[in-house]
Amino acid sequence: MAIKAIRGTRDLLPPDTALWNFVEAAARDVFREYNFQEIRTPIFESTELFSRSVGEETDIVSKEMYTWEDRGRAASDHGQSITLRPENTAGVVRAYIENQMFNRPGVQKLFYMGPQFRRERPQKGRYRQFYQIGAEAIGPPAAGSESPARDAEVLEMLATLLDRLGIQNWTLELNSVGCANDRETFNNALRAALKDVVGNMCDDCKRRAETNPLRVFDCKVPADQPIIETLPKISQYLDQPCRDHFAAVQQILTAVGVPFTLNERLVRGLDYYTRTAFEFTHGALGAQNAILGGGRYDGLSEAIGGPKAPGIGFAIGEDRLVLALMESESAGAIVKPPDAYIAPLGDGMNGHAAKLARELRRHYLVIELGDESFRLKKSLETASKLAARYCIILGENEAKSDNFAVKNLATGEQVTIPRADLPQKLQSK
Ligand code: HAM
Repeated sequence: MAIKAIRGTRDLLPPDTALWNFVEAAARDVFREYNFQEIRTPIFESTELFSRSVGEETDIVSKEMYTWEDRGRAASDHGQSITLRPENTAGVVRAYIENQMFNRPGVQKLFYMGPQFRRERPQKGRYRQFYQIGAEAIGPPAAGSESPARDAEVLEMLATLLDRLGIQNWTLELNSVGCANDRETFNNALRAALKDVVGNMCDDCKRRAETNPLRVFDCKVPADQPIIETLPKISQYLDQPCRDHFAAVQQILTAVGVPFTLNERLVRGLDYYTRTAFEFTHGALGAQNAILGGGRYDGLSEAIGGPKAPGIGFAIGEDRLVLALMESESAGAIVKPPDAYIAPLGDGMNGHAAKLARELRRHYLVIELGDESFRLKKSLETASKLAARYCIILGENEAKSDNFAVKNLATGEQVTIPRADLPQKLQSK
């Protein structure tokens, strides 16, 4: 039996990979404009990093991680519990602490792109190896890392990126999940409210009601949803500084013209969030409609042994972004077919063809090179199948005269063009 890719993983093939490159290039451009710089962290980390940041009771840590015990010879790494990263924020904050980036001036603005791993039930838009494009703005409070201006800047940057990619019909859903103090009062209120109803809920909810009541909101069991609807909302438990912060974020977003809707039920499935939490959703994606998610994490650095370093960030689900892009009208124009196919005709012509290809490629033209063993008919058919714009016919006469027969494969029109004029002719659309 042929060997297949593991369930939930997939190959990204051309021409779709052109869309992935397009998305990544646009993201790099936008990140540069907002002065974010790239960081690359390891794909595996110690398991403890995720349990202490994302949280023991989250679905990610309790059910979805790819974890194993290392079996190195050295005592130092033997038996160490290692996990394929299910997300990148924990790794970035670990790197921030480990490399003492808090000693660098200002807020550290870092972006990343790469694969993440979660053992979820695979379906459209949900994979076990998936790709995120994310960014984090983190730093000491004195550098301004706590300011609502950072939240609004990150959200406005995302709106800019989606607009630039030609993705329309997105909705920004916004909430505040408060700070550690609010969380405590809210958790107490939740526990009290759950006392009478949790007996009718699923086993996960029963456990969470004890250990981490906020995580009850992650429950997907249909029968539990009407009960969850009756539970108190975190917005009722925010202290004044958190209310002020949230109001300031909204005020800046309104000033810059980024539309948003408030969603009091949005708590996000990771424990490290404080204050601003958000998701961008997109209509064309069906059940997995969150194209990206993020929020503020003012206590995360301290939770994993670092100094106080408030931050805010997001991760785009690149798989989902590409799906959304495929739905948009601009997708067709992104895949670039060859500008020309060079058809060498007859023995000894491959060298001439290679030389001409080399010249044209130096003008940034996309050239597909044929082979002298092909007859003209086969060359033209191949050029058409590859969707080349032109076919350049290179026989002995052309090689001698440096004048080439150039066929427009869309119109069928054929003209003779001197070698020196070829680049310009092929560049014009
Ligand atoms: P998250 O909401 O878990 O947040 O993931 C962010 C995005 O990754 C989701 O909105 C979704 O588009 C995509 N995603 C998640 N799981 C899958 C999957 N199994 N298949 C395909 N796409 C998926 C985080 O990961 C946080 N680290 C975001 C963040 C950064 N918060 C602050 N900074």
